Amino acid sequence: MKLFIISNRLPVKATRTNGDFSFIPSEGGLATGLASLDLETEIHWVGWPGLYIEDENEKPQVVEYLSQHNYHPVFLSEDQVEEYYEGYSNSTIWPLCHYFFSFIKYENSYWKSYQEVNQLFAETTFPLLEDDDIVWVQDYHLMLLPQLIRTQNKFVNIGYFHHIPFPSYELFRVLPERAELLNGLLGADLIGFHTHDYMRHFVSATERVLDTHFHLDQVKHENRMVYVETFPMGINYELYSNAILNPNIQQKAKELKETFGNSKLIISVDRLDYSKGILHRLEGFYRFLESNPEYRENVSLAMIIVPSRANVEEYSSLKISIDEMIGRINGQYSTINWTPVYYFYHSFDFEELIAMYSIADIALVTPLRDGMNLVAKEYIAVKRDSPGVLILSEMAGASIELSESIIVNPNDTEEISRAILAALNMPVQEQLDSLKTMQKKISKQNVNRWAAGFVKELSEIKIRNIKLHKKRIGESKTDWIKQAYASSEKRLFILDYDGTLVGFKRKPEDAVPTDELIATLQLLCDDPSNHVVINSGRDRDTLEKWLGHLPLSLAAEHGAFYKEGGKWVENIIDMTFDEEIINILQLFVDKTLHSKLEVKNTALVWHYRNVDSWFASLREQQLVNALIEPCARLNLQILRGNKVVEIKSPQNTKGSETQRLLAQRDYDFILAMGDDITDEDIFRALPANAFTIKVGSVSEIARFFLNSQTETIPFLRRIAD
Ligand code: UDP
Ligand code: G6P
Repeated sequence: MKLFIISNRLPVKATRTNGDFSFIPSEGGLATGLASLDLETEIHWVGWPGLYIEDENEKPQVVEYLSQHNYHPVFLSEDQVEEYYEGYSNSTIWPLCHYFFSFIKYENSYWKSYQEVNQLFAETTFPLLEDDDIVWVQDYHLMLLPQLIRTQNKFVNIGYFHHIPFPSYELFRVLPERAELLNGLLGADLIGFHTHDYMRHFVSATERVLDTHFHLDQVKHENRMVYVETFPMGINYELYSNAILNPNIQQKAKELKETFGNSKLIISVDRLDYSKGILHRLEGFYRFLESNPEYRENVSLAMIIVPSRANVEEYSSLKISIDEMIGRINGQYSTINWTPVYYFYHSFDFEELIAMYSIADIALVTPLRDGMNLVAKEYIAVKRDSPGVLILSEMAGASIELSESIIVNPNDTEEISRAILAALNMPVQEQLDSLKTMQKKISKQNVNRWAAGFVKELSEIKIRNIKLHKKRIGESKTDWIKQAYASSEKRLFILDYDGTLVGFKRKPEDAVPTDELIATLQLLCDDPSNHVVINSGRDRDTLEKWLGHLPLSLAAEHGAFYKEGGKWVENIIDMTFDEEIINILQLFVDKTLHSKLEVKNTALVWHYRNVDSWFASLREQQLVNALIEPCARLNLQILRGNKVVEIKSPQNTKGSETQRLLAQRDYDFILAMGDDITDEDIFRALPANAFTIKVGSVSEIARFFLNSQTETIPFLRRIAD
């Protein structure tokens, strides 16, 4: 088994010097984080080497060098870099996911190129893949890739991790290609996010855009279960924490300390990106100097800004604004002996960066939005036993774990200024205590644990999907059940109606039996060895109207009424509703648009199929809460079914009806089918050798499942034909 990490960038990028290639580490949290993975599996990478290489003769040289490290390059043309990388990835999805609505650009050509490059990544990966390999797709550049790989290889285990925020549905919905992107992701078995908020937004967008329904952390998509989970990414803690023990770095730190003199030092480190809040941060520092003159000449801000995506307009214009603002602050406040803002517009190598972290009294990390932010974690790790204060934006994913830092709203420049003052005045013991607590957390949740946790969960899902596959009724299981049918003489069929024999309709009264269903039931009834029972929660009149002409048995309202030998029998066991319950239900109908109340002889049902799913889930819980007390008093059961809450006697269940049927006669072939929670009572009541079939999902109790309601009638026909 091999692990294939697929990301837009390889962990190294090629650069051309004097006609020759050299390779240096890539920047950004994803590359630095994943580069230090230490898993037991053989790891391969697929990604872009970060340089256009148009001359075909040059490519083998790059391929050869990279393959020594199990890196597999995807070569992108200049156009593709412009339209897929700078375009759709960084001018459409990036601003969208970081809530920069007005920066979002739509170009048809961007989308086309995004599709084309995702396909190119898929084609590079296909020949490398074997069935038991794990594919782990990284980040927003490749949201279509999980489904593209799935189409080619049904059984491969695919994960996807979203390293940036997933925005609220209200923002995500503006994307014309929202459905395609979500479908692309659902090709994965596991979709991971840094925080529960991003996960929540993804679930809500998927439910609304694709009209799918999550059950807790999972959703059924094309015969498979897809899972979502949070995995906050960490750093290679040991690497950062131990780095400062290196004498070279200590020497560097000493030299730097001398350069910056006695001033207190604030550090900030980011790629040049509008999401990082660099201008707001500078404004906060400016305000601080303005309102705290005693700190002038005593505090400096060292800004390390790494060039990034310079061909995207918003990035290049931001560069100009940053230059101007730093010029303004330094112009206004610099003295012969003091520079307020040190500005470095280039990347630092590892040792220099560690040395800077180690001498900084404060790290000022104030992104306007950030998926995680590893710089904050690196600063804390490097500090070891030395004091230091982290000021952290509440909009960074890292703020959820690093709650002992000084948390600020990065839009509030006054608050940034106050936080700097508070950090400068924080007692050393308090600094050390906060650092210790945060160090404990991030040393545990390090990058290896993050990756190992994701891969472990992914492998477990694979096992669950294999089990699921085993329960699924396909061709061979159908034949096997058919054989059992053929060799038996006393057969019982217990069939649920809604969601099993007919699909759900917006209005329950529209779920009339199709001609095909009637013909299939007739076919089953034609064989005198078959006893066919429709065991339903529907009322007696409806069942009689729709199915009464067929020579089968009916059970209405969970067995409170049953029809056998052409006659209806009342089987109501002890049943009373009171005004209070009816009033509660009526109140919920009134205040929940598109919900309705069904009044049956022995049950009351609140239907919410057409209500917005978030709102329905809130109302459903409120309703159940309101009903608990009166239902307990009257000994009534509250049943949470498929988009319904039903109040009924606990004594009439589909299970009690099944037991009644079994007590009447012996059978040598029993087949039961149902889709809802109430049908589980049927499965439970039947002997272990019965063919119990859950429709549309997997059940622990039923032996088998059929993938969807549309498969039930063809299946029954195959058995009986
Ligand atoms: N980084 C670097 N060289 C630099 C500045 C930063 O390698 O000169 C690294 C830094 O150590 C961190 C990453 O770049 O690991 C930035 O990750 P972060 O999650 O903070 O932000 P992102 O760039 O992913 O948005
Ligand atoms: C963020 C993204 C990464 C990306 C990195 C650097 O961390 O989540 O996917 O690699 O920024 O950006 P770049 O455009 O240079 O790859």
